[in-house]
Amino acid sequence: MEYQNILVKKKDGVGWVIVNRPDKLNALNSQTIRELQDAFLVFKDDQEVRAIILSGSGEKAFVAGADIGELAGLDLETGKNYALNGQELTRLIENFNKPVIAAVNGYALGGGTELVLACHIRIASENAKMGQPEVKLGLIPGFGGTQRLARLVGKGQAMELILSGRIIDAAEAYRVGLVNRVVSFGDLFPTCEALAKEIIANGPLAIESSIEAINKGLDQTLEDGLLLEAELFGKACSTEDSKEGTKAFLEKRKAGFQGR
Ligand code: COA
Repeated sequence: MEYQNILVKKKDGVGWVIVNRPDKLNALNSQTIRELQDAFLVFKDDQEVRAIILSGSGEKAFVAGADIGELAGLDLETGKNYALNGQELTRLIENFNKPVIAAVNGYALGGGTELVLACHIRIASENAKMGQPEVKLGLIPGFGGTQRLARLVGKGQAMELILSGRIIDAAEAYRVGLVNRVVSFGDLFPTCEALAKEIIANGPLAIESSIEAINKGLDQTLEDGLLLEAELFGKACSTEDSKEGTKAFLEKRKAGFQGR
């Protein structure tokens, strides 16, 4: 697929996906959502890519929301389908087989915050502004915000953020647990890159299973989650990577993981 609204590149095992509609503050129209879906699917099967960094182009916005021009024309049925389509993208990211890091470089509003919520790890620059302002448009979050925000920051904080539609700065986003870390704008990409490389140094199958265990476990009872963890632990024990990782430790050398 040829991309009009996103930029994609690969460097040192990291796949970069940058939403690129800076004149519209990288707002997510349907074309952009399709392109993001395609880019993630391509990276999913790309053996050279071991982690993804998702961001927006320019200094002002990560993604300033779903495209309000498109939202204006939706009705009961098309609205539901629009939300389901956006949710397909956020589920693809959330359940991705490789770690996805959000580099929040400015406004991440509505669908932008929802994209960030779907990522596995969130790093914000000091100029980031986040929120779910949909109620100001007479709408509600539709790409997973009501569900993932409450799961990430707790019901009380999610209620306040979604019902007020308030936009918060990076420090507040950090305080409520919406982002893992806040760094200067200049440090944002290097920090995300360093984090991606730190993760990439580990066993890729172990990373994939860890993501699966955390994601699935949170939707289950503790008992079921623990059983899932034990099953995935057993699966990890049967990999060549775990033999190599444990052997390398005992031989006091760096492990060479093959993803097998
Ligand atoms: N959908 C479509 N277009 C958007 C957009 C969105 N979510 N967010 C910004 N844009 C467009 C603006 O319409 C404007 O386009 P134009 O130059 O053709 O008029 C351009 O991006 C720049 O935005 P502008 O509003 O002029 O920038 P600003 O610095 O004055 O304000 C924001 C920045 C983020 C506060 C403001 O753009 C905004 O409130 N955006 C909508 C946020 C929102 O409600 N998102 C959730 C949607 S569910």
